[in-house]
Amino acid sequence: MDKKKVLVVYYSQTGQMRDIADSFCRGFVADDNYIVDYEQLRLVNEFPFPWTAFTFFNAFPETFKEQALPLLPFSDKVNGDYDLIVLAYQPWFLTPSPAISSFLQTPAAKKLLTGKKVVTLIGCRNMWLGAQEKVKKRLAAFGAKVIGNVALVDKSPNVVSVITILRWLLWGRKEKTSLLPAAGVSEADIRQCEIYGRLTKNAIERGEIDSIQDGLNAQGAVEIVPELVLMERRGQRSFSIWSGFVGAKPIGSLGRNLRVRLFMTLLPTAIFILSPILMIVSALQLRLKKDELMADVRYFMSNGLRG
Ligand SMILES: Cc1cc2nc3c(=O)[nH]c(=O)nc-3n(C[C@H](O)[C@H](O)[C@H](O)COP(=O)(O)O)c2cc1C
Repeated sequence: MDKKKVLVVYYSQTGQMRDIADSFCRGFVADDNYIVDYEQLRLVNEFPFPWTAFTFFNAFPETFKEQALPLLPFSDKVNGDYDLIVLAYQPWFLTPSPAISSFLQTPAAKKLLTGKKVVTLIGCRNMWLGAQEKVKKRLAAFGAKVIGNVALVDKSPNVVSVITILRWLLWGRKEKTSLLPAAGVSEADIRQCEIYGRLTKNAIERGEIDSIQDGLNAQGAVEIVPELVLMERRGQRSFSIWSGFVGAKPIGSLGRNLRVRLFMTLLPTAIFILSPILMIVSALQLRLKKDELMADVRYFMSNGLRG
């Protein structure tokens, strides 16, 4: 039997996404009938880790607008013909991170992905819905089909995960303290990802690869909190206004720096002050517009793409 080929295209600043991808691929790697390759995307000008607060917020407008940045040359694997492509990515500012969105705008990505079956793996804080919409649109333009999605999130309460992720991204401190849980996706959830890989592999072997999402969902691969759907919808709207405002000034100019500083003061304040209020408003909305919201939840648990 010809070996089946899987390519994992990924980006990771801290290694979390690579750990998730490794866990997903464990079953494939252990089976001699598969070849598993990795393609790590790297930006020519990498963002720092840990970030400074200014650099972090200064990256927002162009990231949100999906402006392509130069990537280091790809390996030859990107020219290969694969049976399955695993796109392992993280949202930045409710948008695929710049390395991923830049990749998806290259001719190489078009060639690699045209007509292919894709599994998306997401590792994030808890807001990935809009980023996945942007990824699905780019993949659909190549005639690629998302056959499965696994979204691993930090399951701590929203405000807690804002604190722990900022501590991680700005100071490099991921570990738990006496008051705070560890930042990021839990070790247990990363381990669990092996099961999603095995489900995908079994589906390939049974020839049922086009209908794996329900099986993945049944094992918790995608869990959606309705309140977060509403919060993210509001976030997308306000980010599209703020990215226009901050991004209107050239990077490095005084006007830009002042606007970034305004944004970096207001955003965390809005999150901390508004988040509990919005949770209450969302709970009310959830009751009033339950059917509409549950339709959204079902949509985000599938891999369809709204026109
Ligand atoms: C600039 C920046 C913006 C981010 N924005 C989001 C976001 O909108 N939603 C979210 O759930 N996580 C967000 N995160 C967290 C990332 O998705 C990811 O979990 C984290 O950066 C670790 O990923 P990595 O080490 O694999 O690159 C953001 C991280 C960074 C660095």
